[in-house]
Amino acid sequence: MTKEIPTKFLLLCLAIFFLCNIVYASQIEGMFVFGSSLVDNGNNNFLLTLAKANFSPYGVDFPVGPSGRFTNGKNVIDLLGEELQLPRLIPVFYDPSTKGRNIVHGVNYASGGSGILNDTGSIAGKVVSLNEQIKNFEEVTLPDLKTHRDFLQNYLFVVGSGGNDYSFNYFMRQANANVSVEAFTNNLIKSLSQQLKKLYTLGGRKFVLMSVNPLGCNPVARASQPMGEDDCIQVLNQAAHLFNARLRLTVDFIRPQMPGSTLVFVNSYKIIRDIIRDPVSNGFKDTRNACCEVLSVNEGGNGILCKRGGQVCAERNIHVFFDGLHPTEAVNIQIAKKAFGSYNRDEVYPINIRTLAQL
Ligand SMILES: *[C@@H]1O[C@H](CO)[C@@H](O)[C@H](O)[C@H]1NC(C)=O
Ligand SMILES: *[C@@H]1O[C@H](CO)[C@@H](O)[C@H](O)[C@H]1NC(C)=O
Repeated sequence: MTKEIPTKFLLLCLAIFFLCNIVYASQIEGMFVFGSSLVDNGNNNFLLTLAKANFSPYGVDFPVGPSGRFTNGKNVIDLLGEELQLPRLIPVFYDPSTKGRNIVHGVNYASGGSGILNDTGSIAGKVVSLNEQIKNFEEVTLPDLKTHRDFLQNYLFVVGSGGNDYSFNYFMRQANANVSVEAFTNNLIKSLSQQLKKLYTLGGRKFVLMSVNPLGCNPVARASQPMGEDDCIQVLNQAAHLFNARLRLTVDFIRPQMPGSTLVFVNSYKIIRDIIRDPVSNGFKDTRNACCEVLSVNEGGNGILCKRGGQVCAERNIHVFFDGLHPTEAVNIQIAKKAFGSYNRDEVYPINIRTLAQL
């Protein structure tokens, strides 16, 4: 009798321990992040570019204020890191202190304004293309990391690029006038596939591919073509939709060429589109206006970035957009939560990131 109680107690402890492990046991040690402003943690602070977000009111809800993140608070990468219970925020590649012990939980290479194609974003000054980002990983981080970590299968490789290739390249350049959106998209997907295979040959095994957002719903797009309250610009959304459909197919196509790898497609397009279609039941009210005061073309801006020291809305968590292009933290939370835990394959395909992390 006296012996039985500790045994039962021990079994209970074991049961709880296993239950907790079944509920969530992440193998993930860190993330390597590639892409555009939606996932840039502040690389552009160190570059000679107009595409910066290291001033107020950016970061108004971020613990240390403006950091170069293109939103009011945390971006999707920060929030995914929280879901994965990573011990720290992912440092940016261009920060000189990002080396040695500081890179064991990953590095963020993303650059606001950049795209899949080398020349996307060059109008904003020096931005770092996806190819250059991968080169930075290969030539600088990998030799440094080798001294601390032999295997990369416990890292997520997150890629979020493509929107700028449409917004600031395809739809903006006269040279593309005779190129169909299908041909342009095929070219983007071909490039991205090569870039993913490159990351695979460098050791990447777990990939998270972010969709392009509904570009036609961005305040900057809607401002250029005022329509009804809920209308988004169809031609932009159709392009984004085409890219995303192709990217989702790529997840299945490319796997045989990357044995032992797993790719997950996160449909942030659908998640944001659903919020815009039905804001109230998702906790939002304003789906159309930027929360911050955006610097217009007349004021020397581009209708995208917030005005330095400008006004900011009071209720950030009911706005979908923080500036002319980037979602608020409130939207980022929904994307990260669904990417991590949704079982709806229209939202995250073919498995969610929680499952990916347990592989
Ligand atoms: C893009 O840039 C990379 C280096 O960053 C280079 O190796 C590649 O050839 C370039 N591609 C094109 C199409 O110019
Ligand atoms: C489109 O026009 C440009 C010149 O503006 C030309 O260089 C290019 O080859 C053309 N592309 C196609 C697919 O016809």
